Amino acid sequence: MTSRPDLADALNEVLGVEPGAEDYLAGLTIGEVGVCYEALLALIDREDRKSAGQYFTPDDAARFMAEQSADFDEGVWLDPCCGVGNLSWHLASVQGAPGAFVRDCLVLIDTDEIALRTAVAIISADWADIGDQEAVRSLSARSKRRDFLSSTKLPAHDYVIVNPPYARTDMRDGFETAPARDLFAYFLEKVAKSSKGFISVTPASYLAAPKFQSLRNVVDSHFNGGRLYAFDNVPDTLFRGYKFGSNNTSKTNFVRAAITVCAPTLTAWQVTPIIRWTSATRGLMFRECSGLLAPRRKGPHGEWAKISPGMERIWDDLVASDETIADLVVNRETSWSLDVGLTPRYYISATRRSLDRGSKATLYFGNEADRDRAALTLNSSIPYLWWRALDGGVTLPRRVLMSTPVPVVRSPQWVLDALWESERDNLVVKINAGRENENVKHSPMLVEALNNLTIPGGHDLRLLYASSMFPLPIY
Ligand SMILES: C[S@@+](CC[C@H](N)C(=O)[O-])C[C@H]1O[C@@H](n2cnc3c(N)ncnc32)[C@H](O)[C@@H]1O
Repeated sequence: MTSRPDLADALNEVLGVEPGAEDYLAGLTIGEVGVCYEALLALIDREDRKSAGQYFTPDDAARFMAEQSADFDEGVWLDPCCGVGNLSWHLASVQGAPGAFVRDCLVLIDTDEIALRTAVAIISADWADIGDQEAVRSLSARSKRRDFLSSTKLPAHDYVIVNPPYARTDMRDGFETAPARDLFAYFLEKVAKSSKGFISVTPASYLAAPKFQSLRNVVDSHFNGGRLYAFDNVPDTLFRGYKFGSNNTSKTNFVRAAITVCAPTLTAWQVTPIIRWTSATRGLMFRECSGLLAPRRKGPHGEWAKISPGMERIWDDLVASDETIADLVVNRETSWSLDVGLTPRYYISATRRSLDRGSKATLYFGNEADRDRAALTLNSSIPYLWWRALDGGVTLPRRVLMSTPVPVVRSPQWVLDALWESERDNLVVKINAGRENENVKHSPMLVEALNNLTIPGGHDLRLLYASSMFPLPIY
């Protein structure tokens, strides 16, 4: 308030306090104000903060989201979970006339009165035109403390920018996404149905998990196109934030996030692979990640596949395969088995030897030839590509493993010999949750040889395995 004496009266009305001599927030970005607010909330009541899902968007991610608004025509934007205003602040910052935007084209909603008033005050103090007290008052009058999900009529708006709360919840009547039992699904459903377009940040699990099929259907049926950016959580993670008040040993916010952009002007669907980057290349990642968008492909269970540009042909060939691992396995113990570790990170393999590890699937086959065919596929890059496209979370779900396509190829004896030799020589042991876990990590040369057999026609899988995709490779 000390920095905007021209707006002092209107800002006092919003905040309900007389300005002090000190401006304690001076020099803080909106993201930093959000972090302070998160920390305070956790101190006051950890459980309440968790159930309200108050984890705020970092400045660079909010800026990236705001920049996506370039694809939207003019209109009124609603931020239905505004918090202290992270997203709307950046949205205002990318407008040609931020003062007019704040005065006429922005509506804020939050259940948290303090956060809402803070958002109105900071956004108008930073962006209202000189002496435009009316901008502060009209933003304040349009903004509402309310439950976005309640059936009360929403304020008029065209578009939505949103970071909804992420929290498990009950099935709710009236929501197609009720089977997901997740708050963010209810928010996205209502956003999709009430707006002409939106920009959201949510968990990336909605692109693939079966329980979010209803949400994918809602989004698909209301928009003709969109861009979906999926982000990994290592080496760097989108939210970056510290989980104040968390009881876990890890205090980092490890949500794998997705940014969804659905604008009326977009008439095709595009999805990125799961984007990996390092903290040193974070800025570059935001500048270049649009280069990773590829035409959307669907998986066998309606998943929105996350594949790299250039991989469409490989994907289409795989999907056209007549057989999957499920077609080769049998429902009884036999002499022909393969062990597959179910917590992949940078590779997937399958071994004839029994692996001593916490989480694995033992697959049985009816004869040696089927086991060898499965071994060829499951030790190539196919299962890893398939899993990254259709899940890419912490575990390899049985649904994804079983649906892995098995191309029709010969299994030359020299390759099988090399495989069995490799599983003897390349055993790796990792400690996880206090337990030693065995796995087999084949040499890249052997995997390449398997790829040449199973994914014919040439392939460049550098992006699939890259721990940082930036700078993007030049083909
Ligand atoms: C994940 S935070 C996002 C805050 C901010 N927009 C950002 O991106 O940093 C979610 C916000 O939603 C608010 N919220 C939770 N449930 C809500 C509801 N039912 N209706 C409106 N706001 C809600 C919380 O108070 C919190 O400020």
